[in-house]
Amino acid sequence: MCGIVGSVSTRDIVPILLQGLKRLEYRGYDSCGVAVHQDGGLKRARSTSRVAELEANVAADGIAAGTGIAHTRWATHGAPAVHNAHPHFSGGPGADAAESGRIALVHNGIIENHDELRAELQAKGYAFASQTDTEVIAHLVHQAYDGDLLEAVQRALPRLRGAYAIAVFCRDEPHRVVGAREGSPLVLGIGSAERAGDHYLASDAMALAGVTDQIVYLEEGDVVDMQLGKVWISHVDEAGRFRGVERPVRTVNAHSGAAELGPYRHYMQKEIFEQPKAIADTLDGVGGLAPSLFGERAAEVFADIDRVLILACGTSYYAGSTARYWLEAIAGIPTTVEVASEYRYRESVPDPRTLVVTISQSGETADTLAALKHARSLGMTRTLTICNVATSAMVRECELAFITRAGVEIGVASTKAFTTQLVALFLLTLVLAKLRGKLPTKGEEAALRNLRHLPAAVQAVLALEPQVISWAEAFVPKQHALFLGRGRHYPIALEGALKLKEISYIHAEAYPAGELKHGPLALVDSEMPVVTVAPADDLLEKLKSNLQEVRARGGQLYVFADADTHIENSPGVHVIRLPEHYGALSPILHVVPLQLLAYHTACARGTDVDKPRNLAKSVTVE
Ligand code: M6R
Repeated sequence: MCGIVGSVSTRDIVPILLQGLKRLEYRGYDSCGVAVHQDGGLKRARSTSRVAELEANVAADGIAAGTGIAHTRWATHGAPAVHNAHPHFSGGPGADAAESGRIALVHNGIIENHDELRAELQAKGYAFASQTDTEVIAHLVHQAYDGDLLEAVQRALPRLRGAYAIAVFCRDEPHRVVGAREGSPLVLGIGSAERAGDHYLASDAMALAGVTDQIVYLEEGDVVDMQLGKVWISHVDEAGRFRGVERPVRTVNAHSGAAELGPYRHYMQKEIFEQPKAIADTLDGVGGLAPSLFGERAAEVFADIDRVLILACGTSYYAGSTARYWLEAIAGIPTTVEVASEYRYRESVPDPRTLVVTISQSGETADTLAALKHARSLGMTRTLTICNVATSAMVRECELAFITRAGVEIGVASTKAFTTQLVALFLLTLVLAKLRGKLPTKGEEAALRNLRHLPAAVQAVLALEPQVISWAEAFVPKQHALFLGRGRHYPIALEGALKLKEISYIHAEAYPAGELKHGPLALVDSEMPVVTVAPADDLLEKLKSNLQEVRARGGQLYVFADADTHIENSPGVHVIRLPEHYGALSPILHVVPLQLLAYHTACARGTDVDKPRNLAKSVTVE
């Protein structure tokens, strides 16, 4: 997704801007650019290739200065093309916006009323060089400029509807960058002691790792004015007036994200293999089933709720869908799971005694944040997030938080974040079950024992990789695949299908196996691979009947079966055996070979595994 870095400094800031962009690269982008204040004017380089190419262009053009802004773009309005890449310039009515500039601006988010603003600005003579919604902001700031950039930005912002984080500078004020946020994240970095006076902006503190650890998380409606040795934050009140505000400076040890690949080919593979450690780290310090695992006020909150509403997107949604089976079966608590982007616009029946649980790897997913706000606006104020980023907006917005310790996840396809989310959700289930008198002491001890053994159990499943590789070749020429699961393994089938489609570009769909005969069976012929998750649970016999339905139509079955299922290799039935059945925690084991299958199929098809086309790591726009 889009990324912003900006700075005002006495040194050449371009290497820091480019380094920041590199740290944001893993989020996914299709073009990038940088603009600086140099030789009394604006200079810019843009590219539809990688930041490394932008770096070469910058060097070739001799771009170097102390004031600048940079951006990675993930296209929403207008194709991925150089003319749509940020920074965008505005030189005023009649000026060629592609060439001459007084205002330079980068933007994350979406401006919903850009069409009407564009028409209005065109009527005033402003020429547009791009199809982006962003360019209207540059022109609006230009139009409002009267010698003071901060005032111009403050005058322009009320015209915008939608979500934004922006960084902007002006030809006439060489040592000044103004930033603003509403609906998209933006942080201010304060120069370290040896660089006192320098200021930085970024859409994620990670972009400033190694530059400064002194971070201010700007809030919705904040505008920051960065000058050399001086910074001022203002906030818009309900009457639309900007007033100075104090925001705490936090010391943030942001990971650089540039983790070493070590022996692995891709970050996704590395992250799949990091799962035993990620799970162990997430469980570290979990001595028993105290509500305080979820925050100081968790006991009070958990006593105040009768039901659970889970809000999430993508893989995190499938973690929530798995947890629904646990929460209802083990804790006996009514649970609904909603796709965040739908929930926020659906008329639903709120119950104030609901625990709203958001699940998010990044903690910055716009749809999930908006769904959370929507739930709160309906009077459901007891909120918990399960999140992998302690400093994220999601954690700041929720009353309670459980931080998964998966470590930085770089591959766009989520893997270790998913399994650690499941661990956190299982713990939540156990804590709620205990509080509700549904967990006998023996059950508690056994559940904790199983959790502690989980890293070793996952390690044993990872040892199946060579067998999975031998299957991947069969998937390479396929256009379609079906995934089947039952009960709490149905969301695992969904997650397996999502993994395969997002990185191998093979169309994959998942069904609860019993649903096959109600339609999808029509798709099954000898060309159709049917991947099945087969744990040795109480639905096994039903599942076996569903598999017969597939074989009877010539479908090729690829079954990940627990050791004691007695599903054997036979013509058209390929079986990889998982070492042990793991009871309620079995979904955490069964997803691992599905991750490996997607990964090795994608490698064999030669796709860009860590940065699949059209996708972004952190989806900060609606
Ligand atoms: O950061 P989040 O967990 O909120 O992200 C939600 C989805 O965008 C994410 O899980 C997405 O589906 C992944 N690409 C799946 O691999």
